[in-house]
Amino acid sequence: MSEKETILSIKNLRKSFDTLEVLKGLSLEVKKGEVVVIVGPSGCGKSTLLRCINGLESIQGGEISLKGDVISGLSKNMHLVRQKIGMVFQSYDLFPHMTILNNILLGPLKAQTREKKEVTKEAEDLLKRVGLLDKRDAYPRQLSGGQKQRVAIVRALCMHPEVMLFDEVTAALDPEMVREVLDVMLGLAKEGSTMIIVTHEMQFARAIADRIIFLDKGEIVEESSPEAFFTNPETDRAKKFLNVFEFDTVKGVEDKVTD
Ligand SMILES: Nc1ncnc2c1ncn2[C@@H]1O[C@H](COP(=O)(O)OP(=O)(O)OP(=O)(O)O)[C@@H](O)[C@H]1O
Ligand SMILES: [Mg+2]
Repeated sequence: MSEKETILSIKNLRKSFDTLEVLKGLSLEVKKGEVVVIVGPSGCGKSTLLRCINGLESIQGGEISLKGDVISGLSKNMHLVRQKIGMVFQSYDLFPHMTILNNILLGPLKAQTREKKEVTKEAEDLLKRVGLLDKRDAYPRQLSGGQKQRVAIVRALCMHPEVMLFDEVTAALDPEMVREVLDVMLGLAKEGSTMIIVTHEMQFARAIADRIIFLDKGEIVEESSPEAFFTNPETDRAKKFLNVFEFDTVKGVEDKVTD
């Protein structure tokens, strides 16, 4: 098999907020079509890592490259770089006064100056794929949280990014809406999208990941296949982290408290 192209390369990334060191020399490579899932305790630096990749945070050391070009430290061209990196957050920040279609068209038309007819067709195809073509002319307030999140994904995809970053995109959703968003992401993974996903949905992480990164206190503690990570974590820190999720999901919690 031929070696796949490296899309994203992070070397020795260091990020601090004042005296708080959040990322302590983190290195990571993501290949084309790869789905990397980042898990780890609250406050370990997952969102900060994604924000650094997307140029939303200044960094104190190291280097981030996209397809071989260094993108970190480029405040001037960052808006161009950001078009190549799609990001979906926990809160779908759609413009309330614009229709769903216009929300999606905004980036491709304004930032990428593409043809309206061509982009509209693509936006409609993508909306159809996520089951929301009938919401084309609706306003964000008329959509459910899950629907808005699917629109946010379409909006990012319509920019043709090299890599998609997802930061806990289902965390603010009611349980019945989580599935529909995760299904869209599973579809993207199957089609070969390059993705970095931060999630607390462990079953989903296991199903979608090519590779799991376990981050703790700003460092990569484990990096393995989902199978290995979930059945046989190497470190005590990862074991402890996964135990918490077992407590969350196992119904008979009292049975476990004694051991
Ligand atoms: N703008 C900021 N200013 C100061 N400290 C910050 C800022 N953003 C994040 N931090 C701190 O950096 C650390 C990492 O935060 P981050 O949001 O990356 O964690 P996380 O892994 O995404 O956590 P969670 O799972 O709760 O979302 C935390 O200690 C947080 O308080
Ligand atoms: Mg976070």
